[in-house]
Amino acid sequence: MSIVDVQNTPNRRDISEVSPWWRQAAVYQIYPRSFADANGDGLGDIPGIISKADYLAELGIDAVWLSPFYPSALADGGYDVADYRGVDPRLGTLADFDDLVDALHSRGIKVVVDIVPNHSSDQHVWFQEALAAGRGSAARERYIFREGTGPDGAQAPADWDSSFGGPAWKRVEDGQWYLHNFAIEQPDLNWSNPEVRADFVTTLRFWSDRGVDGFRIDVAHMLTKDLTEPLPSQAALDAMPRDGQHPMVDRDDVHDVYAEWRKVFNSYDPPRTAVAEAWVDKGRVPLYAHPESLGQAFNFDLLEADFDADQFRSVVTANLELAAASGSSSTWVLSNHDVVRHATRYGLAHPERDAEGRPALKHGLEWLRSGGATSELDREVGGRRALAATLFMLGLPGSSYIYQGEELGLHEVAEISDAERQDPTFFRSKGADRGRDGCRVPLPWNADGRAFGFGDGGSHLPQPPWFAGYAMSGQQGDPASSLSIYRRALELRRALQTDEKLQWIGTGRTDVLRYRRPNGWEVVTNFGSEPFALDRDDALIFSAAPREGVLPGESTVWFASNDDS
Ligand code: GLC
Repeated sequence: MSIVDVQNTPNRRDISEVSPWWRQAAVYQIYPRSFADANGDGLGDIPGIISKADYLAELGIDAVWLSPFYPSALADGGYDVADYRGVDPRLGTLADFDDLVDALHSRGIKVVVDIVPNHSSDQHVWFQEALAAGRGSAARERYIFREGTGPDGAQAPADWDSSFGGPAWKRVEDGQWYLHNFAIEQPDLNWSNPEVRADFVTTLRFWSDRGVDGFRIDVAHMLTKDLTEPLPSQAALDAMPRDGQHPMVDRDDVHDVYAEWRKVFNSYDPPRTAVAEAWVDKGRVPLYAHPESLGQAFNFDLLEADFDADQFRSVVTANLELAAASGSSSTWVLSNHDVVRHATRYGLAHPERDAEGRPALKHGLEWLRSGGATSELDREVGGRRALAATLFMLGLPGSSYIYQGEELGLHEVAEISDAERQDPTFFRSKGADRGRDGCRVPLPWNADGRAFGFGDGGSHLPQPPWFAGYAMSGQQGDPASSLSIYRRALELRRALQTDEKLQWIGTGRTDVLRYRRPNGWEVVTNFGSEPFALDRDDALIFSAAPREGVLPGESTVWFASNDDS
């Protein structure tokens, strides 16, 4: 018998039995406002997620990561948090949140929540106090307020750009300016202020005490800043090395914050986990993933890679080395709430390359800008490649992150009118950047009915008619559907999971990658279009319909050990 007899493998192995659970978890990202709407107001909510708890269990994921569900004016899809220890009343109550944790825990699924520490919402009581209290007040010290320059201080303290486009400083009524690295409604917090630090510890304890298993840390590389005056220009900032001393990003002293958080995490049993969203130079990622810091960090390299064997192989090799350098495990991400869905990126013809050689993602943005010219997008090709890439990813050592809807093979929605757009990146770039709404469109649960089963009150972003063809209901019973392949792959992944190692095996083809895990689990991906002859016939799963003895182009196959011992 091969080491995996799936018929006899329990459907769910409790991830708690694996120690520590997060190192090789399959984590499913939920964007709560677009997942399922129980109260029919057009916005997804926590009871909606609870109603899909069985779906999540059947999918076979180990953990759910919830994007922000906190009270928010939705200036940045919830990443503008008005109360870090509350639930947006449109999404439910704290009691609903507790029910959700119970519903997931009772099904063996861990819960990770998003913490947004770089900035709050301008609706946060602290920011409202800061505005009211005026210059020189303790309330203003929780944020980054400065006097302007030029006559009457009418010019910003510095010419800095916000990450979402436009200036990073905004003037308030009494003439002072505040820093917002993202939207105007997202004032940066002052991490030199002990009160800010203490408050986030309270927040981490608040959610940990409610049973949350881990945290995803938003913009983890930007909290601490050196704002010694005179402030440098944007050009000077851009020219400075990112060596831990840069005034704005990836400063060494941010790890003092995380060392304190680590003590909080480790005071729980089991320790709470954290994963950093840190856009930093590769060599500095291990600082965030270090066990004395956040413990794990996102690796976004697959988001930026083409569907290309060389690129995938170097991304994997480099990131396994980085993970080893930190003592953590690697993470893998093909899609999330900030990027064009991978089925669409891979379905776009004639990718253009930018200066850094990042074709697929960039081309996705170009395509969005064109209004989604469907002639350029081959949904079938994109879907096929996406499934092949997913099976490639799910076999890798480390944690895999899956973004809601990708299990349905869902594509990016380009056909959103300007009036319907929500993302501040669209508005702040004056439409030059079409924004991230297209991957945040509410999920199609049914092929027909109001909002494709998302909820009775319509959908807060428009769902196109073609969503019907991707509905969950239509895929459930079809063994060849994307959903069925995800389910089977996740089930197999649990049964096959092994030591965090990988060995590349030669294939004689530059466009075919083959790797083996220590227990003999093998993954072969054909990135090319020519079929690849297989040397064995005991496949466990294919991403595309197999042909006799052959791995079709743009597909992946898994094998278990063929050692009978
Ligand atoms: C992170 C989030 C993104 C958000 C930004 C500002 O990059 O993933 O969605 O807009 O932080 O909070």
